[in-house]
Amino acid sequence: MEKTRILVTGGTGYIGSHTVVELQQAGYEVVIIDNLSNSNIDVLDGIEAITGMRPAFVEGDVTNIETLKSLFDTYPGIKGIINFAASKAVGESIEKPSLYYRNNLVSLLNLLDLMGPNGVEGIVFSSSCTVYGEPDRNPVTEETPIKTATSPYGNTKQISEEIITDMIRSGAPFKSVILRYFNPVGAHPSALIGELPNGVPQNLVPYLTQTAIGIRKELSVFGNDYDTPDGSCIRDFINVVDLAKAHVIAVNRMLDGKSEQPVEIFNLGTGDGVSVLQLIESFERSTGVKVPYRIAPRRPGDIVKVWADPTRANKVLGWKTEISLDDTMRSAWNWQLKLRERGIM
Ligand code: UD1
Repeated sequence: MEKTRILVTGGTGYIGSHTVVELQQAGYEVVIIDNLSNSNIDVLDGIEAITGMRPAFVEGDVTNIETLKSLFDTYPGIKGIINFAASKAVGESIEKPSLYYRNNLVSLLNLLDLMGPNGVEGIVFSSSCTVYGEPDRNPVTEETPIKTATSPYGNTKQISEEIITDMIRSGAPFKSVILRYFNPVGAHPSALIGELPNGVPQNLVPYLTQTAIGIRKELSVFGNDYDTPDGSCIRDFINVVDLAKAHVIAVNRMLDGKSEQPVEIFNLGTGDGVSVLQLIESFERSTGVKVPYRIAPRRPGDIVKVWADPTRANKVLGWKTEISLDDTMRSAWNWQLKLRERGIM
């Protein structure tokens, strides 16, 4: 039987690459488009080493509609799209808003405009818990009110959700599943793919593992005087493989005609709030490696606490996280060790 073809934009990135692996293992044929602006072509080797299958790859920019048109000509019959291709550094988005609006919104519009003419039945969109801002109450459900975005990055996620909803409401002939990720961390258990940010990491876990291995002198914990039990911020850290699996379920659902609504929204998190200091403890406990850290001033714009109520995803998608935080921290560390072994960092 012929395999169903799925286009994964940003498929060599962190979440994208883990999702490509899960899609292939579930029997899908994957085409990746990525401009390699924040990833490396070697990721394809890692994917192939895990699954024994090399995904088709187009190096190109989703903001370029001509590139996309020729992709659809070269790879006809694409049934679904997962759209990871986007810029995601909150601070950079404040400095370069037009870059963020262009990258994140033009790319989405191009994809949506080409779906109908090419017979693509559904799109999974990577959104974020950032849409909830600083919530009045935790955990947050999908009904928790959206707050005014505090960065252009966050605003692109809100606007993207609205664009998808408006287009489908106006009769566009496809479905969408919008996934609001909490904080994805960790790496594939094989340590063949993982998170590899360009330059100095902005996110907690890559900074932590790079500190543990000696690339960085110490980790700064941004604030220990917040209104939380230990004073540090609280997040919902979700294993990237658990997260990737939810995408396969979302694609199945859209393509099998099981969606209950043309646009469905799900929170993807564990349901557990974990503080920055607790995360460091989990890392040290599970790896036996100490992390040098100091308490630093608060980082402007940080949310104090946000964690998911994943009940809807649990019930409707039949999905829940399975990998513990300790195992997740071990996987992040094994990936960092592997990068050293390969001479990459
Ligand atoms: C934020 C956004 C998220 C976005 C992500 C992309 C929110 C709630 N989340 O995640 O939507 O996709 O950026 O980058 O707006 N920390 C340290 N030291 C460090 C780095 C981080 O203490 O060196 C702390 C932060 O202060 C924060 C926590 O660790 O409390 C997590 O930070 P980070 O990994 O950057 O993710 P978010 O800011 O939660």
